[in-house]
Amino acid sequence: MKKIKQIRSPLFYTGDKYKLIPELKKYFPDKIDKFVEPFVGGGSVFLNIEANEFYENDIDKNIISIHKYLSSFANSEDLLNILLSKIDEYEFSCSYKGKTVPDELRKKYVKTYFAKYNNESYKQLKEKYNNSDRTDIADLYLLLIYGFNRMLRFNQKGEFNLPVGNVDFNQNVFDSLTDYIKLTNKKNPHWSNTDYKEFLSNINIKESDFIYLDPPYLITSSEYNKRWSQNDDIELCNLLDAFDKKNISFAMSNVIDYKGKENTELLKWAEKYNIHSIKSNYINYHDNTIKTFREVLITNYE
Ligand SMILES: C[S@@+](CC[C@H](N)C(=O)[O-])C[C@H]1O[C@@H](n2cnc3c(N)ncnc32)[C@H](O)[C@@H]1O
Repeated sequence: MKKIKQIRSPLFYTGDKYKLIPELKKYFPDKIDKFVEPFVGGGSVFLNIEANEFYENDIDKNIISIHKYLSSFANSEDLLNILLSKIDEYEFSCSYKGKTVPDELRKKYVKTYFAKYNNESYKQLKEKYNNSDRTDIADLYLLLIYGFNRMLRFNQKGEFNLPVGNVDFNQNVFDSLTDYIKLTNKKNPHWSNTDYKEFLSNINIKESDFIYLDPPYLITSSEYNKRWSQNDDIELCNLLDAFDKKNISFAMSNVIDYKGKENTELLKWAEKYNIHSIKSNYINYHDNTIKTFREVLITNYE
């Protein structure tokens, strides 16, 4: 059987579902009219799904700005020209272009040579971005690509405040950008940047549509989980019950067992639906000392 290539989002988002796509797809409906995704994050799920229309939302304005910016290009060459000329201007290393770190530095800092080499360039780009009106999304994207763990983080004043990472613009970044632009041109997603409740209330969702939800997980510890409370879980579950009454199919990813903590309320709620165990890569990403872990996909259909 031909192996289908999984597309990774060029946002390299913490906790993205890219490696779990084959697992998730096993439980997704065969035919989807509107694919509705209230918590899109990096977008690895919609990139790998077939549907007639795509509705994509996240509350994080920077994430949506990057999606809108990248997907606005009709072809990847135009975007790459912008990014690669900035990479030259700031004198970053660029493995993709064969602009590598000198051997001397590689030998001296075996595990951290990218960070050592790009540190000054990164500081300059960060300073330029923070002192600007912060609307140059190509700058923000490069801060992500060359930044610590490829994350986005801002202080109270809205200044980007992560240090340089031990990574650079390599073949993986090039491939994911090229795939992303090709696919978003085809899928033409409707982007939205608001709370999931408002997003869902703005769409006319019918029985032929499908909602996939990957909300913050109450009991795990990613940055975006910190503002998510028990009350948020309850509100979300109530909303899903209302969709179920209208015969609208949904599937929700979640973690119900983590480091000895259990999300018992969620589990109790989910028992009236179908709970599928998902083989997860969460442990490798976050903490390989974790002993208890259970990721699930809850669906309201067989
Ligand atoms: C688990 S991540 C989604 C990851 C995504 N499935 C992927 O593959 O990259 C959860 C996302 O929910 C977003 N989020 C948190 N609270 C939200 C809210 N109230 N409404 C909409 N999005 C929210 C976060 O910004 C984060 O991007």
